[in-house]
Amino acid sequence: MPSTIKVEIKRQSSPDAAPVTEKFEIPYRPGMNITSVLGEIALNPVDVTGKQTTPVTYDSNCLEEICGSCAMLINGKAAMACSALVDKLTGPSKDQTITLAPLSKFPIVRDLAVDRSVLFENLKKVKAWVPIDGTYDLGSGPKQAPQIQEQRYPLSNCISCCCCMEVCPQFNLSTSFVGAATIAQTKLFNMDPSGSVLKEDRLRALSGDGGIQECSFAQNCVMTCPKELPLTEAISDMGRDVFIQKVKDLFTR
Ligand code: SF4
Ligand code: SF4
Ligand code: FES
Repeated sequence: MPSTIKVEIKRQSSPDAAPVTEKFEIPYRPGMNITSVLGEIALNPVDVTGKQTTPVTYDSNCLEEICGSCAMLINGKAAMACSALVDKLTGPSKDQTITLAPLSKFPIVRDLAVDRSVLFENLKKVKAWVPIDGTYDLGSGPKQAPQIQEQRYPLSNCISCCCCMEVCPQFNLSTSFVGAATIAQTKLFNMDPSGSVLKEDRLRALSGDGGIQECSFAQNCVMTCPKELPLTEAISDMGRDVFIQKVKDLFTR
């Protein structure tokens, strides 16, 4: 077992500052994940040359791959810091340097923290919610067939981490493509017995600029999603529904 591990972190002190790389060598403990590595640096923020530095800024909350906030590039791949285990990242001889960098397609806030509000804006575009009046007790909602529940449940596991957008060749901040997570949530809410009241609005939102036609079906998203959402199936299904909606609108609007 190694007594220390090597970590290289791309840091940026503010949105406009130039990025710098800092190297650390920190004590190894079995079972460490990247969040505990960053915690170790926060306890003793001294780089490999002995120079005092500052704790690394990053987002995290649940520490169990539920909140989606700790997404970053770990050894060059979009992943969650809280579920990325050091033992799997340092290679068989455990001496490989671990590299950490912020997601590359989102504005930097500081160090490894980025602004992912574009996803929330995209979810607003497709009305990714069930429109109910919560001011009084509506009783139990309409029943859902078990087959529908089975299709909806995996889609409800999205943690809004944005990893699917980071790896998507069609997504960047200069295009308006909404990305796979938003398309998947459109399917989730369109299949909800109460949420389906907004189905046509959602499909029309996906048929315009930045909509589903901009997906090149490269499938990087489905291979990266930490929650293994059935993204390619959702994209195909929504592509079909958007097409049907367009044809309907052609004859009725
Ligand atoms: S299939 Fe490819 S282009 Fe479409 S959302 Fe996924 S990664 Fe992006
Ligand atoms: S679809 Fe997967 S990768 Fe994309 S935001 Fe949701 S959980 Fe993250
Ligand atoms: S801290 Fe919540 S997903 Fe990692």
